[in-house]
Amino acid sequence: MKCIAVITGASSGIGREFARQIAAAYPSLSEIWVLARRLTALRELEAELPGKKVRILPLDLTEDTALETLEALLKKERPCIRILVNSAGCGKSGPVESQDWKDASRMLDVNCRALTAVTMLCLPYLKKGSRIIQIDSGSAFLPQPGFAVYAASKAYVLSFDQALGAELKDRGITVTSVCPGPVDTEFFQTGGIALSPLKKIFLAKPQKVVKKALFDAEEGKDLSLGRSMKLLRLLGSVLPQKLILEVMRKLFL
Ligand SMILES: NC(=O)c1ccc[n+]([C@@H]2O[C@H](COP(=O)([O-])OP(=O)(O)OC[C@H]3O[C@@H](n4cnc5c(N)ncnc54)[C@H](OP(=O)(O)O)[C@@H]3O)[C@@H](O)[C@H]2O)c1
Repeated sequence: MKCIAVITGASSGIGREFARQIAAAYPSLSEIWVLARRLTALRELEAELPGKKVRILPLDLTEDTALETLEALLKKERPCIRILVNSAGCGKSGPVESQDWKDASRMLDVNCRALTAVTMLCLPYLKKGSRIIQIDSGSAFLPQPGFAVYAASKAYVLSFDQALGAELKDRGITVTSVCPGPVDTEFFQTGGIALSPLKKIFLAKPQKVVKKALFDAEEGKDLSLGRSMKLLRLLGSVLPQKLILEVMRKLFL
């Protein structure tokens, strides 16, 4: 049986870096399946990984037909999925009342609906020792005025991951939620998000985030956090939420 990695959002940023590092660190994988909408970017990634069999799946994961394509392919090939990385995601900032509901719905479709569906489709093919890595965000820990829908979508992912991890315990499969602060990718440009001076201070390189995430996943950790996000999580758990929301409002609105 062939063992594979499945990576969504592999055409850029964090997902692309996962493909690179997984290709290097797991030489016994037969194939790496990479999913995103941009075919050219996926082909460029394939060219970067000579000697690796890369399965290019140019799919818009907000569409049911795309999810059905993945489902059919998995049913046909019945691979063992050693690693699943859900990195496809997007964000839009600004007060809720200034946003287009279609953009907000799309964000929920990619960040929550597609992540849930891809995870569920892959579950039958995960074996003991398989790893699920969900690219969540530090935004999952706190409601965020000025980034409300995005932060709520990431809180959903964290809750989903924690419950799923408990369900999969007896199968020896772990779920790791990766919750970085700002990372230097196309994310800000794509979402038209201005990178504030505060966020610039904490801007991490995708290489570092991914290296730590793979390590934490192999350790079976349920969370993969850098130092600043550990602090944010701690503050979120000890400070009164009203105070946090007021500070966030002043900082981000
Ligand atoms: N960068 C940050 O500061 C940061 C911080 C915390 C968490 N995150 C999370 O990290 C994850 C990866 O983001 P990134 O920073 O790597 O940003 P990115 O460079 O913009 O990558 C986003 C990826 O998602 C894919 N994608 C978006 N919509 C899709 C759709 N409808 N169907 C299929 N694929 C889709 C994009 O591919 P196509 O455009 O080719 O479809 C791209 O590969 C996201 O979940 C994001 O929320 C990012």
